[in-house]
Amino acid sequence: MLDLLIKNANLPDGRNGIDIAISAGKFETIASAIDAPAHRTIDAAGYLLSPHFIDPHFHMDATLSLGLPRLNRSGTLLEGIALWGELKPLLTHEAVVERALRYCDLAVAQGLLSIRSHVDICDDRLLAVDALLEVREKVRPYIDLQLVAFPQDGLFRSANAEKNLLRALDKGVDVVGGIPHFERTMADGAASVKRLCEIAAERGLRVDFHCDESDDPMSRHIETLAAQTMRLGLQGRVVGSHLTSMHSMDNYYVSKLLPLIAEAQIHAVPNPLINTTLQGRHDTYPKRRGITRIPELLAHGVNVAFGQDCCMDPWYSLGSGDMLEVAHMAVHVSQMTSVDAMKQAFDAITVNSARAMGLEDYGIETGRSANCVLLQARDPIEAIRLKATRLAVLRNGRIISETAPKIATLNLPDRPAALDSAQYAPIDHAGTA
Ligand code: FE2
Repeated sequence: MLDLLIKNANLPDGRNGIDIAISAGKFETIASAIDAPAHRTIDAAGYLLSPHFIDPHFHMDATLSLGLPRLNRSGTLLEGIALWGELKPLLTHEAVVERALRYCDLAVAQGLLSIRSHVDICDDRLLAVDALLEVREKVRPYIDLQLVAFPQDGLFRSANAEKNLLRALDKGVDVVGGIPHFERTMADGAASVKRLCEIAAERGLRVDFHCDESDDPMSRHIETLAAQTMRLGLQGRVVGSHLTSMHSMDNYYVSKLLPLIAEAQIHAVPNPLINTTLQGRHDTYPKRRGITRIPELLAHGVNVAFGQDCCMDPWYSLGSGDMLEVAHMAVHVSQMTSVDAMKQAFDAITVNSARAMGLEDYGIETGRSANCVLLQARDPIEAIRLKATRLAVLRNGRIISETAPKIATLNLPDRPAALDSAQYAPIDHAGTA
């Protein structure tokens, strides 16, 4: 007897009308017609069953703190950093845990079951580190939470940052973070990259830096990151987050840089919601959007995954744990509107993110853990367009969240009585009709 049988689902790779048998928490069989008794059967009715969403760049120590101790009136990065500095001494362990758990509830409802969160270690109490380590254990049954030791105020610029970072890693934080463009000089930034990569190599850890989150075209720490990655044999284990200076760099230099990033197998993690709102703030017009060169990175074979970065915190008053919203923004701001590019945007919040985080047990494949989300949309492009309702979210084969389909009741003469926006328009994104 199967635990669960999902009938007639579409899959992100374009297979339609697929049945998925789940038992003992794993995908047991994936085939076009499965007839077997099950404790529960779900008729997917041609909707999309996707592996769960992944957010490879987030700040869970700050999330849902909007308005504490005051609102970011200008909406700028600098006021956000100042605000976080005001909030930090006021944080309590209980409040950080409580907000993070509330955010994880939201994430589950959004089908977001793997999150990499940076945690600020520039607080000698390491209060946020302890709080998020506790949260990591509490949510383990339903969310994979990776933590990055993040020296928000600079490894060299903040007095005890290196000591605190090592303490955080000793406590069990998973990944080594950094912020080279925030050090006092370019030379200090490069030195911080070298030192932090050495720490990661010594400890066998992965690396994820806020790298060149700047409109300064001369902010080139990504080249040092690529060089150190190769020197220390960290290929495939390093993420460059943001990389916004690349938006403003000279094309000739970028033509050297892109192959270098690919050679070092660095994963690029742009954060479209945040990069579009925080960058270009010193510009009059034209105003730069400040998002890294996503299509060009993809064309060079670089793995690109999208992060949310913020949700209702000092830097960003919006956000809803919705990775489809993140992909939707990327499609627009990076003009990824070709059919293939929109599919790549869906990959960037699913499979590419799994690769960036080093998650191996991921995807709708026989023998893998049955973690997935049923969407009220028929394919990945429609899912992005509609920011589709998450009808069911599964973790280890168990339904952990359900949302009723969004169907409007119409009261119009001679028109249908109900409207399901996902059945509204014909689609043929596969181009097979
Ligand atoms: Fe960030």
